[in-house]
Amino acid sequence: MSQKQEALKARDGFASRVGFIFAAAGSAIGLGNIWRFPWLAGAYGGAAFLAIYLFIIVVVGITMFMGEVALGRYAQRSNVGAFKKVNKSYGWVGSLGLIAGFMILSFYSVVGGWVIYYVFRALIGFNMTDPALTGQLFNSFISNPILPLLFHALFMALTILICYNGVKDGIEKYSNIMMPALLIIVISLAIRSLMLPGAAEGIKFYLVPDFSKITAEAALAALGQVFFSLSLGMGSILTYGSYLGKNENIPNVSLIVPLMDTLIAVLAGIIIFPAVFSYGFEPSSGPGLTFVTLPAVFSEMPMGQLFGGAFFFLLFLAALTSAISLLEPLIAYMINEVTNEGLLKF
Ligand code: ALA
Repeated sequence: MSQKQEALKARDGFASRVGFIFAAAGSAIGLGNIWRFPWLAGAYGGAAFLAIYLFIIVVVGITMFMGEVALGRYAQRSNVGAFKKVNKSYGWVGSLGLIAGFMILSFYSVVGGWVIYYVFRALIGFNMTDPALTGQLFNSFISNPILPLLFHALFMALTILICYNGVKDGIEKYSNIMMPALLIIVISLAIRSLMLPGAAEGIKFYLVPDFSKITAEAALAALGQVFFSLSLGMGSILTYGSYLGKNENIPNVSLIVPLMDTLIAVLAGIIIFPAVFSYGFEPSSGPGLTFVTLPAVFSEMPMGQLFGGAFFFLLFLAALTSAISLLEPLIAYMINEVTNEGLLKF
């Protein structure tokens, strides 16, 4: 084999266990935790929803997470290559993960761009205490023909730049910086939010169990949230698993990541709801909560620019570490299957 072929065959990988844990937790902790989980929990019975969510994480989530890490580590190949290693005709199964990841990245990166804009907007100060005005601001931003495209391009450029540097010098290095920063911001904002006057009302809305809201629809929402939040079936965890050292204990790392993911999701609600209730706002759902209600809340809060800036920066870190994990499976596929084997086949 020529030196060039040797170099192509040599595979990049995580240098340490902590690197894998931060990168995989970065993949899991994303917009789903901060943007989606809190309002799902708030809408579907608070702690009752959390109980179902935890049950599904334990019986389905952790097992599937472990399965993806194990298959990736065993095959040491991309998503497609891993399934091919199990059976030559299974490559198409892996390609489904690549397609899912690519589709998620397509909308994820758009919201990622919005978040970058909102970091700056929050730091300048929204100065709008009426959600009708913050709603107008949001609508005029997303319908502007240029701005969202520019911020989307910036978000994608950062994602590509990190992946371009490889696993050890890109994904691992930046996750080792971004994840501790994210944890510090989450914990600080949660403490600050709990200290606001009337915070207990928000906690009551968010966490007091209401079993009457536990319907089949709520259970389905929890199941979907587990898959999305743990980045299952989108190629990310399998690909990261393929970069994990042979000596690492798979059950061990597969427990820590879902645990961190759940903790951050719960803490995100502890940041949001006490603040929303403390200033007498209605907890709306979906994008409205983050991009319409919260800017109005930050406008009411003393030092709201700082709190708001930190909140959107937290959202940015969460989105970026997930976006790199959505792009990496495609890169691994290109390197492992296309470049090395010279074929574009599933
Ligand atoms: N797991 C990522 C999230 O929750 C995709 O946002």
